Amino acid sequence: MAKKNKQAHHGKVQTAESVRPLITQAAIQKRIREMGKQIRRDFPGEPLLLVGVLKGAVMFLADLARHIPGEVTFDFIAVSSYGKDSRSSGQVKLNKDLDASIEGKCVIVVEDILDTGLTLQYLLRVLQQRRPKSLRVAVLLDKKERRLTEVHADYVGFSIPNEFVVGFGLDYAERYRNLRSVGILSLPTAPR
Ligand code: IMP
Ligand code: MG
Repeated sequence: MAKKNKQAHHGKVQTAESVRPLITQAAIQKRIREMGKQIRRDFPGEPLLLVGVLKGAVMFLADLARHIPGEVTFDFIAVSSYGKDSRSSGQVKLNKDLDASIEGKCVIVVEDILDTGLTLQYLLRVLQQRRPKSLRVAVLLDKKERRLTEVHADYVGFSIPNEFVVGFGLDYAERYRNLRSVGILSLPTAPR
C-alpha cells in the first residue's frame, strides 16, 4: 500500500481514482446566487419555467430555482447520446419528455455542462418547435474548447478548461454527483 502510494506520488502509477478540486462549494453557491438575480432582472415579473436536463442538472436547478425570486416552476427532460463515443456522435435520443406543454412560456433550459454542444443543439431544436414565448439556456459549466457546433448559453456559471470534471450533479459512471464542489477526475493508470 505504502509502495503504491509512493509510485502514485511520482506520477508513474496511479492506483485509485481521485478528484482534484477545481471549483469550491462556496464559489458555486456565490455564482448561482448571481445567476438567479440576473435571470430575474432579465425577466421582470414573468413566470419562468426551468427545464432541467436529467440527471446532471438536478443540483444546479435546485439551487438556481431557489435564487430566482417570484414565480418559478420546473420540469425535466432526459436525453442520451447514441453510440459508444457518446460525446461526439451527435446523435441524441429523447429518453423522457416534459410533463407539460411549454407553449407561450418563458423557458430556461438548465444544463450541467456545455461540452461539444450537440446535446443542447438537439434539445433547443425540439423545444423551439413547441413555440415557447422565449427560450434561454443556463449552464453551470462551459468547456468552450470542445465546442463542435454553434450553440449559445445565455447564462454561464464558469468557463472551465478541457478536463473531465465531476461533482455537483456531474458524474463518472453515475458516481460523484453528490459532491458539493466540482473537481477534475483522474483515473488509475496501469503499470507497464
Ligand atoms: P455535449 O453534447 O458534448 O455538449 O455534452 C454534454 C453532456 O455530456 C453533459 O450534459 C454531460 O452529461 C456530459 N459531459 C460532458 N463533459 C463532461 C464532464 O467533464 N464531466 C461529466 N459529464 C460531462
Ligand atoms: Mg448531462
